[in-house]
Amino acid sequence: MKIQAEINGEMREFESSPWRRLLDVLRTDLRLTGTKEGCGEGECGACTVIVDGRPVDSCLVAVGQIDGRSVRTVEGLADGEILHDVQDALVRFGGTQCGICTPGIAVCAAHVIEREPGASRERLRELLSGNICRCTGYQLIVDAVADAAARRLARSDD
Ligand code: FES
Ligand code: FES
Repeated sequence: MKIQAEINGEMREFESSPWRRLLDVLRTDLRLTGTKEGCGEGECGACTVIVDGRPVDSCLVAVGQIDGRSVRTVEGLADGEILHDVQDALVRFGGTQCGICTPGIAVCAAHVIEREPGASRERLRELLSGNICRCTGYQLIVDAVADAAARRLARSDD
């Protein structure tokens, strides 16, 4: 099947069986290896990407389902050399250890703060609850995302 989709703002066209996992096509065919596989069963959120404005587990999505849609992966967060607020904050706060969960958290958190920059810490925790981290204990991740949200909110007030 020929699939056309907007991937990180660029129209892409490629051949694939429609039944393959989006996660595999992103990593193997499109060389977008930032998206990680954790559980492979829709439980951990490591493979999170945004499809048509909604976070999804790419391990559970058949690539045929993205035909005609837009997909944002972790590679689409930065603006050239300028990191997204969430990426910058995760680095500054040290909100990452092994890094397997980090791309999924960055994608989900970017999505969240772009829509709800005024979200409370409790709300951020709730919105990120589908992203499991076995290393950090979450505190530094929430600190980082809250900082990124505050920066974004401050800019929107300028
Ligand atoms: S790898 Fe997709 S949810 Fe865990
Ligand atoms: S940093 Fe290792 S799973 Fe989150």
